[in-house]
Amino acid sequence: MALLPVLCYPDPRLHKVAKPVEKVDARIQKIVANMAETMYEAPGVGLAATQVDIHERIIVIDVSDEQNELMVFINPEVLWASPEKKSWREGCLSVPDFYDDVERAASVRVKALDLNGNPFEIDADGLLSVCLQHEMDHLLGKVFVEYLSILKRNRISLKMKKRAKELVGQR
Ligand code: NI
Repeated sequence: MALLPVLCYPDPRLHKVAKPVEKVDARIQKIVANMAETMYEAPGVGLAATQVDIHERIIVIDVSDEQNELMVFINPEVLWASPEKKSWREGCLSVPDFYDDVERAASVRVKALDLNGNPFEIDADGLLSVCLQHEMDHLLGKVFVEYLSILKRNRISLKMKKRAKELVGQR
């Protein structure tokens, strides 16, 4: 397994639209293993393939307290979203050290393929619902800061570019 570099906003590659996985095979399983390792190392509760510059519809999530319940979603699709909305303070491994409130459907039903290529459905609410919607946005090339005002977004872009420069300076 290997840690994968995570793209940082406003990297244009974060706006690529991921393609469906055609076959869940050893190549995909290896990508999933590396994504899980990268997510746990960060640490984060979710990671979309887009964030590690792999543009296929793959998500890993672990919202458990112990970080020992890995969930894998390949080719995830929302089957149903509740009309009821809920606002959560969100963060993202691609936007380090930044958090803000985003309103999303309170619960969703999602279908996907598991690591063996078998279809399954899941009803999610709470953090899992937020996380699924956040990660599925990534697969469509959307980062959560795009729900915020242009003013806030520009401020974040500047901060991230400054941060990237500082990181380069440290090397
Ligand atoms: Ni994210």
